[in-house]
Amino acid sequence: TDALKIGIAGLGTVGSALFRAITTRHNMLADICGREIVITAVSARSRNRDRGFSLDGVNWYDDPVAMAREADIDVFVELMGGEGDPALAAATAALAAGRHVVTANKAMLARHGVELAKLAESNGVLLNFEAAVAGGIPVIKAMRESLTGNSVQRIYGILNGTCNYILTRMQRDNLGFAECLAEAQRLGYAEADPAFDIEGNDTAHKLSILTSLAFGTQIAADEVYVEGITNISIDDIHAADELGYRIKLLGVALKTGTGIEQRVHPTMVPKGSMIAQVEGVTNAVTIEADILGELMLSGPGAGGDATASAVLGDVADIAKSRPGHQHAPALGRPAAKLEPYQRAQ
Ligand code: HSE
Repeated sequence: TDALKIGIAGLGTVGSALFRAITTRHNMLADICGREIVITAVSARSRNRDRGFSLDGVNWYDDPVAMAREADIDVFVELMGGEGDPALAAATAALAAGRHVVTANKAMLARHGVELAKLAESNGVLLNFEAAVAGGIPVIKAMRESLTGNSVQRIYGILNGTCNYILTRMQRDNLGFAECLAEAQRLGYAEADPAFDIEGNDTAHKLSILTSLAFGTQIAADEVYVEGITNISIDDIHAADELGYRIKLLGVALKTGTGIEQRVHPTMVPKGSMIAQVEGVTNAVTIEADILGELMLSGPGAGGDATASAVLGDVADIAKSRPGHQHAPALGRPAAKLEPYQRAQ
């Protein structure tokens, strides 16, 4: 069988970790997938930055949109981030050209996920985005495949590693907010603009994607009530502790009699609860489903390797797929059949 050719746009924390994983595990991946996975093209902001690996033999593109459209690739891996162009233009061009797209870009999916899913479906290609929600946790796969046929009543969790890391270090080590944020940035957890993390928007983006998968509706990121953690002080954390609580930034989506409610805000959770034990960069998602019951998934929610692991799984799924093989639609059901979003009264 022919090798699966992939092009990676974006060689930051995640892109570099993916490049290393694919090149160092080449033979193992070929055994598992039944074909080689080869990186044939890359695009990034700076060609000469030292990333600890060589780009020799890989086609370089200054313009990710040109790479998406013209490169000799089967899969376009979008790891640039940002809700608009060039990520959106590149993903759109790749799908329109009949290439599969794998992305970790929750901001883009929160705004344009339904149109991208429709484009993928009409072109008979896959749009995979496991890494966009809760880093390495396989929650998209769980939602769109394992839970097929379930009705979901509620889904909630800790969806931002940076915020959970900050809250944990403040509580455990008595450190100030700014110091913890700087450490989260140093560890490669935070967004390029960390305001997205600490003001709650990143959690809202991820929640809006989960909401669509959970309830079969259009993605409605603007319908999320958002409050971040910027006003949480060490005193608040200590006061909560004395009362028997931890403070967590939660994203919650639930179905009421009138519609859907989506919110993101700091929440006091009892110290003995499972969600209170989720510490540091770890994320957790709880899904209440009618056939299955309650499912809780937890694991690394940010960081280069953990996120690259999810991207690699998405790429490997494509490598294993064969023409004629049926796949779960990107958003769990055909994008054209998603219901309109109805906000709870
Ligand atoms: N900045 C994000 C976080 C990265 O801290 O969770 C993973 O999406």
